[in-house]
Amino acid sequence: MPEMTKQLLFFLVMVISCLSLNCAAADNTANNEALYHDKLNSMHAKPYHQTLEAMGKDNSCQLCHGTKTPVSSPNDSNCLNCHGSRDQVAALTLPDPKDKNAEPNPHNSIHYGKDASCTMCHNEHKPSEIYCNNCHLFKYPNMKP
Ligand code: HEC
Ligand code: HEC
Ligand code: HEC
Ligand code: HEC
Repeated sequence: MPEMTKQLLFFLVMVISCLSLNCAAADNTANNEALYHDKLNSMHAKPYHQTLEAMGKDNSCQLCHGTKTPVSSPNDSNCLNCHGSRDQVAALTLPDPKDKNAEPNPHNSIHYGKDASCTMCHNEHKPSEIYCNNCHLFKYPNMKP
């Protein structure tokens, strides 16, 4: 084969393989996007957040996450838009001063003060958990699952 033809052939092979690689990449992106949207559509709020859920998917996602297409945990500031200040949240769960066995306030602890992130304990799309109990054995019967 003359040198020119060889070079041309090589060039063509490169172009074709690049094109098919690109097509595969585009396919993959479309696939991932579909999976991502299926996932978003399958996410629900807790029963106690029914009023949010009733506002429709896009609105409810936006109210907690600040976006219609969330990828990670929301910021506390969005929770506090509805639940008030950290002081107000802490005031909801003040231990009874007359009860010596009262559990400590989860919203105002000796370790984190009032600054613990809401999502350390309150999950939305899976059961909530009491982060403190990684180390302690506190009982909070009023903690909604
Ligand atoms: C009441 C607040 C609230 C609402 C409403 C809400 N989320 Fe969330 N979302 C959270 C919290 C808290 C987390 C972190 C813990 C968890 O997964 O439950 C989270 C985590 C996520 C994550 C990342 C975790 C994962 O599993 O990938 C995605 C994605 C997500 N939410 C999507 C959505 C979508 C979509 C909507 C709307 C249909 C929505 N969320 C509505 C509070 C909310
Ligand atoms: C758009 C307003 C709104 C947003 C945003 C919101 N909530 Fe709520 N939340 C409510 C309402 C309304 C209720 C039901 C009334 C109530 O119990 O205060 C509720 C109830 C709750 C409860 C149950 C209260 C109980 O009685 O035990 C918890 C816990 C809670 N929210 C945590 C969160 C957390 C954590 C976030 C952020 C990830 C968040 N909320 C975001 C409005 C909101
Ligand atoms: C360390 C874990 C933890 C963190 C962090 C946390 N909570 Fe809670 N939360 C709890 C527990 C436990 C209860 C139930 C308390 C009880 O049974 O007395 C509760 C109860 C609540 C309630 C219902 C209170 C009531 O009796 O009316 C609301 C609302 C709430 N949390 C919102 C928030 C918000 C908003 C944040 C972030 C600013 C937050 N929580 C951070 C553990 C936590
Ligand atoms: C990573 C482990 C860890 C986590 C998580 C943790 N603690 Fe502690 N906590 C400790 C240790 C260690 C001590 C010191 C124990 C001692 O001196 O007796 C302590 C001490 C305390 C004390 C004083 C001593 C006592 O037991 O009465 C309180 C109250 C307390 N923690 C509350 C909390 C609360 C509320 C949370 C969640 C918001 C929390 N802790 C999360 C490890 C932890």
